[in-house]
Amino acid sequence: MRRVLFVDDEPKVLDGLRRLLRSLRKEWQMEFVTSGAEGLQEMEKGPFDIVVADMKMPGMDGAELLSLVKERYPDTIRIILSAQTGKEALLRSIGSTHQFLHKPCDPEQLKWTIRRAERLRGLLGNQAVRSLIARADSLPALPDLFQQVVAELQKPNASLRDVGKLIGQDPGMSTRILQVVNSPFFGLRRPMTDVERATAYIGLDTTNAIVLGVSVFAEYEDIELPGFSVRHLWEHSLLTSRLARLVAEQEGMDSQLVEDAGLAGTLHDTGKLLLANHARDEFRQVLIRVAAGDTTFSAAETELLGTNHAEVGAYLAGRWGLSDGIIEAIAYHNHPGDSDTDTLDLNTVVHVASALAVAAGSAAPDAEPPDCLDMTHLQRLGIDEHWPRWCEATAELLEVAAS
Ligand SMILES: [Fe+2]
Repeated sequence: MRRVLFVDDEPKVLDGLRRLLRSLRKEWQMEFVTSGAEGLQEMEKGPFDIVVADMKMPGMDGAELLSLVKERYPDTIRIILSAQTGKEALLRSIGSTHQFLHKPCDPEQLKWTIRRAERLRGLLGNQAVRSLIARADSLPALPDLFQQVVAELQKPNASLRDVGKLIGQDPGMSTRILQVVNSPFFGLRRPMTDVERATAYIGLDTTNAIVLGVSVFAEYEDIELPGFSVRHLWEHSLLTSRLARLVAEQEGMDSQLVEDAGLAGTLHDTGKLLLANHARDEFRQVLIRVAAGDTTFSAAETELLGTNHAEVGAYLAGRWGLSDGIIEAIAYHNHPGDSDTDTLDLNTVVHVASALAVAAGSAAPDAEPPDCLDMTHLQRLGIDEHWPRWCEATAELLEVAAS
């Protein structure tokens, strides 16, 4: 039986949860406490599989509690259940929270969230991924600058200017961000030379995704393998990121999901960098087999490595403490049908965006969907007919970029 701890300073909320979740009491052993301190005491008595905490509590707030839980009980799944909807609250919990849910809580959604978290922890514990990661002497850390930007955004009076200034202090990063902003892709008439203005132009969320992407790709830019180009992969990732936001917007997803789609798009293929660097020989074989045309990328990877770049990339995102939605979108970007959802989610959005980016790079951009697109999955979700519309939007975006 799973042990679940609920922490909320308002007894009324706890009563409500108790009532809502009654039907689960055969599956879950639930405890309810009214403060972070009590929560920690309860955890000392015996381990919990899952902690669900309110964000705003007097004394120790939810984010503080969960970072202590992360430190002391790293395997416990940590969820924030909060009435706050502001970005501030969301950012505040980056790194210590697996999932952020809004009040009032729907038991089905809570159940689903917990199931997903468990499935992901299983995936991230996959032996093949672990042994591969063990071969790497070091893994890219979550860049300091990314964390500083996140911290800056948490300030009540955060401004684009301040974030721009912060980035400006890192000359290497400034140059790279300007390169991205001035690439044809953002469609500027005149090149920008000032990173503060550039940040203001592309927006904070995009800036943040680029900071993270740039940092990871920079660590691997010296990889040389026949048939593999880090530069090409970076361009594919940037385009996927842009298109993931576009598809998410077109499908009417909320703004948080649109942002997550952008970040997941930037990072979806980072597993390839890790494999190319830390499992060079096997990855070289993968490239040879794929080039010969007799297998798919993931199939070759699974055969030679027992895992694939999607899982490895998800593992890295998990280590960084990115949210479950993002980790899952990376993990399932090649095979969104493998996650057991039947609604349009981030996994499918990133899958579609990556396929759109591949199609856009091919000689005949508006030809048939590329082989990597899982049409059967789109049919199952009832959105296969949206493909032409997404293609059109992609063509429009690229046209603007080219003009
Ligand atoms: Fe991929």
